[in-house]
Amino acid sequence: MGDDRIVGPDMGEEDYQEGSLRPRHLDDYIGQDQVKENLRILLEAARKRGEALDHVLLYGPPGLGKTSLSLIIATEMGSNIRMTSGPAIEHAGDLASILTALDERDVLFIDEIHRLSRPVEERLYSAMEDFALDLIIGKGPSARSVRLPLKPFTVVGATTRVGALTAPLRDRFGAIYRLAYYDDAALQHIIRRSARILRVGLDDEGVAEIARRARGTPRIANRLLKRVRDYAQVRADGFITREVARAALEALEVDERGLDPSDRNVLRTIIEKFDGGPVGVETLAASSSEEVETIEDVYEPYLLQLGFVARTPRGRVATRLAYEHLKLPYREDPALRSLWETPDAEVE
Ligand SMILES: Nc1ncnc2c1ncn2[C@@H]1O[C@H](COP(=O)(O)OP(=O)(O)OP(=O)(O)O)[C@@H](O)[C@H]1O
Ligand SMILES: [Mg+2]
Repeated sequence: MGDDRIVGPDMGEEDYQEGSLRPRHLDDYIGQDQVKENLRILLEAARKRGEALDHVLLYGPPGLGKTSLSLIIATEMGSNIRMTSGPAIEHAGDLASILTALDERDVLFIDEIHRLSRPVEERLYSAMEDFALDLIIGKGPSARSVRLPLKPFTVVGATTRVGALTAPLRDRFGAIYRLAYYDDAALQHIIRRSARILRVGLDDEGVAEIARRARGTPRIANRLLKRVRDYAQVRADGFITREVARAALEALEVDERGLDPSDRNVLRTIIEKFDGGPVGVETLAASSSEEVETIEDVYEPYLLQLGFVARTPRGRVATRLAYEHLKLPYREDPALRSLWETPDAEVE
């Protein structure tokens, strides 16, 4: 499964102390320039008017800094933040007690907001829109509805699956920002910053080796840095050079492009068992002993991004780049190429 992998984007056991590496202010938040620029304007305008910030929705793959950004928003507003998540708010009543406890301009961070239950979500609409809660008091014929005013607050919602959000919920957000994978320069910058905080010595080539394998994801960059630091302390003099980084990452079985044995297994399955594809995701899952969701949510996004896998109407194919990466001979199949190079080919 995709869990405990060193290159998995989800938060794992060893990421719990990631607190110290979290950027606290917008200026420490590296990369995502477009998002930062828009957010700066939003913050500045709200501060000038002395109002609560508009509700903000952050979406993008795990580990790209949604939680960090929500904390920064609260800091920059000089507000308190209450953190919760979609599945944690079980009943509409739980939401009511959270909302009534908020102060003016407070931030309510809801992680995995696409997983709110329907009744909770519906209660949230009016709260976000009118800063009021409609409550039913009493039971039976004597029941009556009361409108309870709330102090103006800000919802910051985070999700990895923006498509799973209902339209009415999405429409309640004044600002919607997509976080993208980080480029190499930004990852290098993040690794240098983290190394300073962790007091690890490293040179430019050491940084580059780690950044290249971080799959565009700050959480993975930080995790690899920590593991390479351990290696450097045990096997070298504690300083991370290119050689030390390479040896450490090799020992962790993370290759040049950040692929681990599970990624390579999926690629090899397509190439060796299905002659490069196309192969449907169910068949691929069964033959590589993985689950369909794990392939779709964990392995595939990065393999697609690297251009090692392409999706065609008839299934997944391994590209020339994948063969080259695994050092396997590539056989040109023009019919197949045209299939996945057709720009408007329907994805299954
Ligand atoms: N822009 C950034 N600059 C510096 N460090 C960052 C940045 N974004 C993320 N990080 C680092 O990566 C770690 C993971 O970020 P964060 O927890 O905010 O991700 P996330 O998007 O909320 O992930 P998930 O979807 O799993 O909840 C942070 O602890 C922080 O150290
Ligand atoms: Mg998070």
